Amino acid sequence: MSTADKLERLRALRAEALLGGGPTRIEQQHARGKLTARERLELLLDEDSFHELDAMVTHRASDFGLDDERYLGDGVVTGYGTIDGRTAFVYSQDFTVFGGSLSEAHAEKICKVMDLAMENGAPIIGLADSGGARIQEGVVSLGGYADIFLRNTLASGVVPQLSIILGPCAGGAVYSPAITDFTLMVEGTSYMFVTGPSVVRTVTHEEIDFEGLGGARVHNETSGVAQFLSPGEPQALDLARRLIGYLPQNNVELTPIREGWQAPDGGDGLDTLIPDSPKQSYDMHAVIGGIVDADSFTEVHEHFARNIICGFARIEGRSVGIVAQQPEVLAGVLDIDAADKAARFVRTCDCFNVPLVTLVDVPGFLPGVDQEHRGIIRHGAKLLFAYSEATVPKLTVITRKAYGGAYDVMSSKHIRGDLNFAWPTAEIAVMGVEGAVNIVFRDRIDAADDPDAERARLVAEYEERFANPYVAAARGYVDEVIMPSETRARLASGLALLEGKRQSLPPKKHSNIPL
Ligand code: HXC
Repeated sequence: MSTADKLERLRALRAEALLGGGPTRIEQQHARGKLTARERLELLLDEDSFHELDAMVTHRASDFGLDDERYLGDGVVTGYGTIDGRTAFVYSQDFTVFGGSLSEAHAEKICKVMDLAMENGAPIIGLADSGGARIQEGVVSLGGYADIFLRNTLASGVVPQLSIILGPCAGGAVYSPAITDFTLMVEGTSYMFVTGPSVVRTVTHEEIDFEGLGGARVHNETSGVAQFLSPGEPQALDLARRLIGYLPQNNVELTPIREGWQAPDGGDGLDTLIPDSPKQSYDMHAVIGGIVDADSFTEVHEHFARNIICGFARIEGRSVGIVAQQPEVLAGVLDIDAADKAARFVRTCDCFNVPLVTLVDVPGFLPGVDQEHRGIIRHGAKLLFAYSEATVPKLTVITRKAYGGAYDVMSSKHIRGDLNFAWPTAEIAVMGVEGAVNIVFRDRIDAADDPDAERARLVAEYEERFANPYVAAARGYVDEVIMPSETRARLASGLALLEGKRQSLPPKKHSNIPL
């Protein structure tokens, strides 16, 4: 063979690899409303930045007629590229090859890029579109999944891991995304479940379709398995690029400060945002919008446990994680789902050195038999534990209520909050004044000629004595009472001040967070 022939052979092999399972299956993929594995990588990564690895890998199975059916790449495109100039390792399952199912070789390709991501301290982003274990390969495929799960676990807290679900993700395969930091799903084309509708029908006699059992909306709104919902693939891939921008490359780096930030509109409006009546709600998004850089907020788990808001933003270009009650939903109470959601987010920020900004307006934990029996104690403890353990800069602003145990939990000074501010509207107390007066002065109120007037008089008296921020400020539990309109400036200077913060935990194998 001449040199020219040898070069031509490589060109031909490369062209073959680009076609995956062939033109017909690519057409079918498009007809399903889905992009191909390679088209997706083009949208995810910076233009012309993708470098493929292992394009010549094929499966090694021969049972069930597989001898005659081999495709270059074996159903997954792997390699590395850049997102906004920063390296990311990627794998993108190719549904046109055996339905993107996972063979031994396919798993080895994924493991190789995961190992490279760990060795080079860069994020790993997996694009899932797969019928699960390659049925023809049996137990070898199960072993391949376990190899990936182990790497997901070892990489957790070392490099950011994103899972973008763009088609089926079924059976044990769901446990890889579940271990990673974030799962993104696309409405209408992606689904995840441990057992599909037909197994469900056989075992529990429930009738349900793919979408209803494990579609993007179900996992974003109900189960909390996914944190992001996109209307289409391009939007999901764009969101992944945005999300990676808030995170460092690995756990020993800081997220680069973004140049060219702009102050938000509406910071001054914060002075008139809090209603006079504690029973009236307001939208905490307005507070967030008034303190973070313009257009910098990306909500995480937007559709799940909406009584608490979690999300990434920037303040003067610095990446921060925001945790905030939402008074407009269930009065911002802490319930099981809210505690789980926020605990996970706090730990995600902590392991990747993203400072936490906590906005507090919490009436307490949700009372009720259902919550108690389902373990609000166990779940609330996760959030308390996560905040207590977190060593990143922690900045807290109490906008209004901070009642009971929830005051302690929400990044209070006592659990190593670094800078704790309160607005003049803050009420820091064991409970709302009215409830407290009803308990402590019940006899006096009952004996009064006009019980309502007596109650109102006592409420006014005790509001002044207990439920204002100056009692806490007098003890140093609040570092400073600030005007709402000063919040952004105080947070920005606080973040600069705390950039070099170093705090460690007692030496241990690992903590034992209540799960
Ligand atoms: C081998 C597979 C496959 C698989 C799909 N294909 N899944 N080949 N192993 N697991 C092939 C099909 O034969 C077909 O090949 C092509 O992929 C496209 O599949 P279709 O069925 O035509 O596509 P669609 O109608 O869109 O249905 C997609 C699907 C369905 C819902 C994913 O294919 C399906 O139910 N597949 C099996 C899913 C499954 O039970 N997997 C095992 C789960 S358990 P051709 O040649 O026609 O193009 C599991 C355990 C993991 O994964 C454990 C980890 C610990």
